[in-house]
Amino acid sequence: MLEKAVEIVPGVYWVGAVDRERTIFDSFMSLPYGTTYNSYLIKGKGRTALVDTVSPDFADTLLKKVSEVVAPETLDYVVMNHAEPDHAGTLPKLLSIARKAQLVTTKKGLGMAKVFYDIPEERVKVVAGGDTLSLGDKTLRFVDAPWLHWPETMFTYCVEDKILLSCDFFGAHVASERLYEEEVGDVVLSEAKRYYAEIMMVFLNPVRKALEKLEGLDIKIIAPSHGPVWRNSDKILQAYRRWAIGPLRPRVVIIYVSMYGSTTELEKAIVAAIQEEGVEAVAYNMLSADVSHIVQELVDSSAIVFGSPAFYGGVHPRLASSIELIRTIKPRGKTMAIFGSYGWAGGAVKEIKARLQPAGFDIVDFLEVQGPPREEDLKKASALGKNIARKVKESLVREF
Ligand code: FEO
Repeated sequence: MLEKAVEIVPGVYWVGAVDRERTIFDSFMSLPYGTTYNSYLIKGKGRTALVDTVSPDFADTLLKKVSEVVAPETLDYVVMNHAEPDHAGTLPKLLSIARKAQLVTTKKGLGMAKVFYDIPEERVKVVAGGDTLSLGDKTLRFVDAPWLHWPETMFTYCVEDKILLSCDFFGAHVASERLYEEEVGDVVLSEAKRYYAEIMMVFLNPVRKALEKLEGLDIKIIAPSHGPVWRNSDKILQAYRRWAIGPLRPRVVIIYVSMYGSTTELEKAIVAAIQEEGVEAVAYNMLSADVSHIVQELVDSSAIVFGSPAFYGGVHPRLASSIELIRTIKPRGKTMAIFGSYGWAGGAVKEIKARLQPAGFDIVDFLEVQGPPREEDLKKASALGKNIARKVKESLVREF
């Protein structure tokens, strides 16, 4: 179905590419469902604009689909909402064919177009939030949306059709033969949450500002640059509001690894104690867990518990990258506890604390046990679990 251009509303076409083979993004995010690079052609009565392009590997796919609607040579504008190569990497080839087309982007986008793609300044039309571009019977209005998730990012709003072209914002890495979210199913919202966690969560204030700005727009359709198009725009708008502004869930994420089973025994006692307090607990063993699923959990979880055996006086290497990632992405729920076990000397708890406390995490309890946990150690682990669960309940009461 997506072999050809798809007309979303009269004069607005999806002309993107479906990439089923890609398994990882940014050498970090796993892509179990592949992805798409969505490009949109807006054909007005007077002029034609292409909004965002595709990954350079799919340049021919893009040109073929554009050709089904208009000759690429006749494009008047190419809008660059975002300069990252998965959306703008085809610009050099496209602009060499569409010789009269102007590249439309933000002031910061101009700098990036020069650095990344050698686009000469005279071919660039710089726009700011609120500026409009008339295509005849269709108008594009640009919405300033910096840091979502690069400094130059913006959105393009199709005024008459009430379509928001939001690039990465509201996106999901899902490749499908169906264009619309409601035809693909629940996986889209779940993958949109993982995408939000990995790409947007770190920019919480810009996300909130953008959501506030969008409240002033009448949006019928949201067409992002990855994954299906949202014809029920409220579904993803409300989800983003929940993730960025809404209350956190009474849920603790336990991230641990064990060498001889001692840390696992402590983890089981902690999970049981948290659940006894009526708080959800979900544990990830880093031996097999995908860190991107943990990050997805952290969008709306209230607390994190790290568990590590001492590894030569420090944290176990299987945990190290997730600690760094969590420090970087700054989840909203910053209540934390740390536990672990050791053979001849500890060190893991101290190292995790040293890395995360300065980043604003509130470490409410910790426990480090030598050798296999005895009865009294398991009691201490239960007490740690109850303690963090109570802190979670208290923090949620304070939110309301
Ligand atoms: Fe999909 Fe930030 O690129």
